[in-house]
Amino acid sequence: MQAKTWHLGDRHQSLVLASFADGLPEAVYWGAPLPAHEDLPSLAAASATDVTGGMVDRNAPISLCPEASQTFPGQVGLTGRDAEGRALLPRFRFKSETVSEHGLILVYTDSDLELSLVLDLSLTPGTSLFRMQTRLESAREITVDWLAAPVFQVPAHIGDMIEFSGRWCAEFQTRRLPFAPGARTRDNRTGRSDHAHFPGLIACSGQTCNTSGEAYAFHYGWSGGHRMVAEQLADGRRQVQFGHASASMKGDRSFSTAPLYATYSGAGFNGAAVRFQRHLRDHIVVGARQPRPVHYNCWEAVYFDHDLEELKAIATRAAGLGAERFVLDDGWFGLRDDDTSSLGDWGIDNRKYPDGLTPLIDHVKALGLEFGIWFEPEMINEDSDLFRSRPDWVLGPLDQVRGRQQLVLDMAREDVRAYLYDCISATLAQNDIGYIKWDHNRVLPVVDAAQTEGVYALIDRLRADFPHVEIESCASGGGRIDFGILERTQRVWLSDSNDALERQRIQHEAALFLPASVTGSHVGPRVSHTSGRTLGMTLRAWTAAQRNLGFEMDPRELSDGEIETLKAVTGWWKANRDWMMRADILRLDASDPAVVAEQQLAGDGTRFVVFAALLRASDPILQQPLRLTGLDADARYRISLINREDAPGLSRGAPLLKEKELDVSGQYLMSHGLILPWRFPETIWVIEGHRQ
Ligand code: DGJ
Repeated sequence: MQAKTWHLGDRHQSLVLASFADGLPEAVYWGAPLPAHEDLPSLAAASATDVTGGMVDRNAPISLCPEASQTFPGQVGLTGRDAEGRALLPRFRFKSETVSEHGLILVYTDSDLELSLVLDLSLTPGTSLFRMQTRLESAREITVDWLAAPVFQVPAHIGDMIEFSGRWCAEFQTRRLPFAPGARTRDNRTGRSDHAHFPGLIACSGQTCNTSGEAYAFHYGWSGGHRMVAEQLADGRRQVQFGHASASMKGDRSFSTAPLYATYSGAGFNGAAVRFQRHLRDHIVVGARQPRPVHYNCWEAVYFDHDLEELKAIATRAAGLGAERFVLDDGWFGLRDDDTSSLGDWGIDNRKYPDGLTPLIDHVKALGLEFGIWFEPEMINEDSDLFRSRPDWVLGPLDQVRGRQQLVLDMAREDVRAYLYDCISATLAQNDIGYIKWDHNRVLPVVDAAQTEGVYALIDRLRADFPHVEIESCASGGGRIDFGILERTQRVWLSDSNDALERQRIQHEAALFLPASVTGSHVGPRVSHTSGRTLGMTLRAWTAAQRNLGFEMDPRELSDGEIETLKAVTGWWKANRDWMMRADILRLDASDPAVVAEQQLAGDGTRFVVFAALLRASDPILQQPLRLTGLDADARYRISLINREDAPGLSRGAPLLKEKELDVSGQYLMSHGLILPWRFPETIWVIEGHRQ
């Protein structure tokens, strides 16, 4: 019997699904785009594998939901129990298909168990990113222990995986591991996407680098904690599964995964990264202010020590540096003089603000800045009026371990959400506020999807009623960064580390998924508050200028020279942000491991800027040529080193870019690369290129 087949594809990739004997579909091909004349049934037939001694008589497919009932030899796509606790072993059969130009909804049922499995896949034109979701519906009450978003096989030549870990102030750490027999499982039970578990995976070959090679990149768009399984079966096949963190799924008849975003790249990690960047910017984030404003955030200037006159003076100086938004951070509400009290009491602190926030807001607005404010809505301190009146609103047992001295509110409760909505909406309605920094400073005591759904519902309600208010997702820095939260927020606070050297690495890795327009990056104090390191203004300012620029130091600490540098870089950023905030961030493969470099290439290819930071002293004494990427080999580009005055006296030679501009072909830039002047460690070169 001929298989049913489906094709989703564009000029970057093809995905071919086949359903044999009405069983669940499997991806019989996913990779470089197939020619239009490809015969899909032949391709499906060609996918049959052999069997030999020591095997079952038919290899269970890695279908989009591998079934235990097929004697599948690895992690299955669905595990659950009926009301009596018996394991569910469905055998799904094809029921219906809905095929649209770029999407496919396939419904499979098991009539004995009265279950339906809905597989919803689409490929967004323009960004070439798949969005894939699995839904399970049951006529009877059941318990689901695991439901995977559509499952994919990773081809045999893709032997490595890059996964993400991290910690506070060191988000987006990447680790390259070989696939090996058995399963690599990440079960993020923190209840948030978390510093330690960014929900992404890149499967690649041993040769894949930023600019060439094959990669399959995945991101699970969910803020409540995910589970990932990257498994090599005993027979050598490899599969990747993503779903909600275990034990977090509730409901009795309908269960859905979050969307899994995925793409195949034949053009290295950058090929996948630009699809995530563009898709996030153009299809996930809604309502981001344009042009992206320059921030000022007062956290590292004053912490909890709010004084109206001091804040006004800081705002005046921030405006003078070029800030366009002033964010009043933690400490303005309740009796919050440190982090032991007041979360939950969202009234303005009359001791600090006897006339409310209006005098500060009026001052900020008169300077021409937008006013933003900090909330941490999902949290509660025991030392708060809210806790004294509603201890029953706390999520989990009261004797749980505290995190930053705080507890979590049960966001699944309607009354909790209504209370928070009333507090936040009153603050927004009574004050001229254009921005919320929405924080989340501890992991959850229990993992439950209902908590995340409750948060989403609250933000959605606020966004509907205050559509002009932009929201930044923060969780002790980058503890809640994912496409789920970014469907309802417009910026992420990537890290609490404002140390520019640490930022260089974090920004670089985060660009595998995040565009510049959503990624907040601030010029911190001269001596970093989280690393103790002292760094120069040039590196600090240019590092922040690689993303959505902001300032977070006390501007009164700045020397005249630092002010001059910061103003110049901010002026440059404002002059370039229109194209830069829509540019592709292409990570460069620097031959010197001490260099972190990226090239931001305008959508129309007419211009680019390269940022090349030297994190520590190089091993070789000469600067190694830096090869660019993504250019038209035949076109000529005019190259200028825009901060060449930063070359130190110890640079005694005459590399061309130190003196003048260079006109060369794209081929030269990509094949040979740029020779840059010698420099000190902890410095950055900024190079502009214009197509002639
Ligand atoms: C953690 C955030 O990451 C910081 O930027 C700051 O907002 C503090 N919380 C405030 O408590």
